[in-house]
Amino acid sequence: MTKKSIYILAIESSCDDTSAAVFENNKKLSNIIATQSIHEAYGGVVPELASRAHQKNIVPVVDQALKQAKINRKDLNAIAYTKGPGLMGSLLVGSSFAKSMALALDIPLIEVHHMQAHILAHFIDDEAQEIPKFPFLALTISGGHTQIVKVSDFFEMEIIGETLDDAVGEAFDKCGKMMGLGYPAGPIIDKLAKQGNPERFTFSKPKVKGLDFSFSGLKTAVLYFLQKQRKINPNFVEDNQKDICASFQKTVVDILMDKLKLAVKETGISRIAIGGGVSANSGIREALKQAENDRQWSCYIPKFEYCLDNAAMIAIVGYYKYLQNNFANFSSTSKARLKL
Ligand code: KG4
Ligand code: ZN
Repeated sequence: MTKKSIYILAIESSCDDTSAAVFENNKKLSNIIATQSIHEAYGGVVPELASRAHQKNIVPVVDQALKQAKINRKDLNAIAYTKGPGLMGSLLVGSSFAKSMALALDIPLIEVHHMQAHILAHFIDDEAQEIPKFPFLALTISGGHTQIVKVSDFFEMEIIGETLDDAVGEAFDKCGKMMGLGYPAGPIIDKLAKQGNPERFTFSKPKVKGLDFSFSGLKTAVLYFLQKQRKINPNFVEDNQKDICASFQKTVVDILMDKLKLAVKETGISRIAIGGGVSANSGIREALKQAENDRQWSCYIPKFEYCLDNAAMIAIVGYYKYLQNNFANFSSTSKARLKL
């Protein structure tokens, strides 16, 4: 007898992307992402505008996800949604929609931790990516987080290092802003860095003990460096854009790799999985591929589609929680801050 399939609709709305996905067990049937371009003009996410845009997007995004998956909402077994962490107004749009729909369909509700989802995105059954074995180390790098997590099982995770100040994505975005680049600056810096000389400028790396990170010092170093150079040549940034981006990106990648090396040494675990928006960065991807050869690490890099905020990663967590009958109470509330 073949096992009955489980169909899950997942909703992600923690920041500035409205996303809905439909899964059949651990396989993606659809993963629709509506990005909000409205924030570009402000050089950063404006929370009030984000929640308004989620309200506008959520119905068409869910509708499209169901249509593309060719699934009738009556066939859904559960609805998973992001409980936190994230922007409160944004989270509330996703949670109220998920709750109302689950209530109307009389199916269970599953709450998902956004950062756990970035880690478990590796378990999506997709031929473009390999599934890591437990235990492994997850480097979660996004606009809001920078953590090294020891992952012993699906829901057994321990943060062994994290940023003491800015997140790495924030460092990319803020340094990009100083250079007059658009928002989010991470992908723009990445693109420009490919054509620049990473050895041209040197930015000092922070001295933080153990496995913790700090990026605010680097941000200030870039600020002072640009101010000084602009006094000599007002067009310094425009004239040297690619080399500044390449040098900045190299510094960030070196910081991340140094901490990973230490984490591997301390834990004895050499399976490394990355997650979060910054894992789309070509510099970190190349450095990890290099470490597979030079250090015999096994590195797991998610498919691009599962790196940035997306509902497919919420659906995979939903699937594993469904298998454990780990359902949420309808009175459960969204959390801007939420422990892993
Ligand atoms: O995970 P994510 O989509 O949202 C958060 O939960 O924060 O990550 C967004 C962050 C932004 O800071 C963005 O600049 C950064 O990921 N990012 C990148 C790249 N693509 C996105 N940073 C560096 N290189 C990239 N290619
Ligand atoms: Zn994220």
